[in-house]
Amino acid sequence: MMNYEPDPPPPAASTPAIHADDLTVTRGPRTVLHHLRFTVPRGRITGLLGPSGCGKSTLMRAIVGTQAKVTGTLDVLGHPAGHPTLRSRIGYVTQAPSVYDDLTVRQNLDYFAAILDPGRAAADRRHQHVTRAIADVDLTRHADALAGNLSGGQRGRVSLAVALLGTPELLVLDEPTVGLDPVLRRDLWQLFHDLAATRGTTLLVSSHVMDEAERCHRLLLMREGEFLAGGTSRPEAGGDTPDALRTRTGTDTVEAAFLRLVDEATAGRTKESTR
Ligand SMILES: Nc1ncnc2c1ncn2[C@@H]1O[C@H](COP(=O)(O)OP(=O)(O)OP(=O)(O)O)[C@@H](O)[C@H]1O
Ligand SMILES: [Mg+2]
Repeated sequence: MMNYEPDPPPPAASTPAIHADDLTVTRGPRTVLHHLRFTVPRGRITGLLGPSGCGKSTLMRAIVGTQAKVTGTLDVLGHPAGHPTLRSRIGYVTQAPSVYDDLTVRQNLDYFAAILDPGRAAADRRHQHVTRAIADVDLTRHADALAGNLSGGQRGRVSLAVALLGTPELLVLDEPTVGLDPVLRRDLWQLFHDLAATRGTTLLVSSHVMDEAERCHRLLLMREGEFLAGGTSRPEAGGDTPDALRTRTGTDTVEAAFLRLVDEATAGRTKESTR
């Protein structure tokens, strides 16, 4: 397991990057997220962890403003989620990479850069941003390859490069490391830490692989649309640290802590139903 040096404290900000209270989402006939209350601190990496189908992608979609039927409070960078001013301040990478297969890596980025920062006068700036984003995700050697000819992991990194183009304050990454080999996974986590430490970027990263939790500053552990840990009424708290979670549950790993919390929640429910 890689250990990271603690990053320096982020610049003081009066509000958390994300603040939710009584956040509920229904999809079709089902309530998928139940009265969530949580904060995500600025300039930190917060892991959103939980098993398949628990509601991670739904929560991320609500945060970036693309999810219907959201009720309760959800403030993002000081505005209600989905506010038009947030568009250029948030980078979002969906679970399925969305790139054009018939364009090269650089052409894909040029295309999205032109949408973000249009006009002939911005051409030099766009070129710089595109070159930096390609380097950030370590695809410089493949810049002229067609996206359709890349591996799954490389295509995922093109999507990530697109999200990095506008130097977003908040990066929402839905399972960015699925299907990557251990070396690439380590390099991507290093990039996430660099972004938080040097650019002050806030990252919300989902995963269902519990060992990735150890690489996050803060954790939100989700199961069946509710938080087992990390959800809080104290806005300054902003999730649990991996250490706090292990200590609180008397376990050695975040995975063991998660299982302990699942057992406790199940026991609590059984008690309630037999009352
Ligand atoms: N279009 C839809 N209509 C109704 N229910 C849906 C729809 N899409 C997803 N759901 C349900 O919402 C719940 C949460 O789904 P979501 O995609 O947010 O989970 P997830 O935690 O991201 O899972 P995974 O790890 O597999 O990506 C699931 O139980 C799923 O069945
Ligand atoms: Mg998902």
